[in-house]
Amino acid sequence: MEEIGVGVYGVGRMGLAHVQRIRERLRGARVVAVADPDPDFARAVAARPEVTGVLVEEDAAALCARPDVDGILVAAWDDAHEQAVLAGIRAGTRVFCEKPLTPTAAGCRRVIEAEVATGRRSVQVGFMRRFDRGYRDLRGLVSSGDLGSPLLAYCAHRNPSQPDGFEAHQIVSQVAVHEIDITRWLFGEEIVRVRVDESRRSSRSPEGLIDPLTIVLWTASGIRVNVEAVCFAGYGYDIRCEVLCEDGSAALAAPSFPAVRDRGGARTRIEDNWIHRFEDAYDTEIQSWIDSVGAGTSVGPNSWDGYAAQAVCDAAIASMDSHGDVVPVDLGPRPDLFS
Ligand SMILES: NC(=O)c1ccc[n+]([C@@H]2O[C@H](COP(=O)([O-])OP(=O)(O)OC[C@H]3O[C@@H](n4cnc5c(N)ncnc54)[C@H](O)[C@@H]3O)[C@@H](O)[C@H]2O)c1
Repeated sequence: MEEIGVGVYGVGRMGLAHVQRIRERLRGARVVAVADPDPDFARAVAARPEVTGVLVEEDAAALCARPDVDGILVAAWDDAHEQAVLAGIRAGTRVFCEKPLTPTAAGCRRVIEAEVATGRRSVQVGFMRRFDRGYRDLRGLVSSGDLGSPLLAYCAHRNPSQPDGFEAHQIVSQVAVHEIDITRWLFGEEIVRVRVDESRRSSRSPEGLIDPLTIVLWTASGIRVNVEAVCFAGYGYDIRCEVLCEDGSAALAAPSFPAVRDRGGARTRIEDNWIHRFEDAYDTEIQSWIDSVGAGTSVGPNSWDGYAAQAVCDAAIASMDSHGDVVPVDLGPRPDLFS
């Protein structure tokens, strides 16, 4: 198979990490050009030694217009996703878009409509946990039925800290969105209602933020998922997931690090950030996107998945704002393109 040409829109932490994984570890693709909502930033990044030979374009539409670009990878800040993804769909260019597909369910609907109008699926959304070995094994176990019907689950998503400017609602749209997607994927069901419970506020969390939160999700068949979302846990990036079924339980296996035993006791390492914790998952995710672009197929989470997750986020934010109302989620009909 020939190499595909990739344009990267948004070259902050995530965009640059994807550029590097394509250049250094993945096969079947080359990064042709980059662009960013801040063109000076794109030029500065393209001048860095680890990005040599990559051209700079003005925007996502210009990336798509290049004859040597087969797919664009959108990793700009959330508010810039919709326009970039729509530019890709209209140009007939395949799109990988970091989560969230757009920051509102209404924006995701516009993406879905544009895709339906073309009659083909062309967008993969960056819910990389679906490519993580531990989550895949957990899903295989739950769906095998060996443990009986799933009843409830507990998830923890603890971040050491967040950058300056982190806003209250982002605990849902930036953090818990991963557990929202994983819940849909693990159980193969939509989430139908949500409630957000407050707890005592951590003294680490900035003024105006309530951290941690517990987000309670109920699926269509009644499975209840308690998501502990923590933005300022201080000690590390710690991800957990345990599913209780009728005949047993199954928990996510963490990446294995050496188990140290010494005078200080027994311990193992905990990752300090998401890029390291999910590095293998990101590699597998982007490789699968590259392979699918090359093969003309479509894999992984699609625009409907992006929309459904965002609709649950919108409902969770409404629950947050009402200090604990149970808020229903009504997705409306799923277009045949995504069935
Ligand atoms: N899948 C995941 O686990 C995951 C993890 C992190 C981020 N994301 C998503 O990826 C997207 C990008 O996130 P990110 O963490 O890379 O954001 P980022 O803040 O590092 O970069 C986002 C944008 O900020 C601007 N920017 C960044 N650094 C700059 C600088 N030094 N000077 C001027 N402008 C600068 C650029 O316009 C850039 O495109 C977001 O949509 C985010 O939600 C996904």
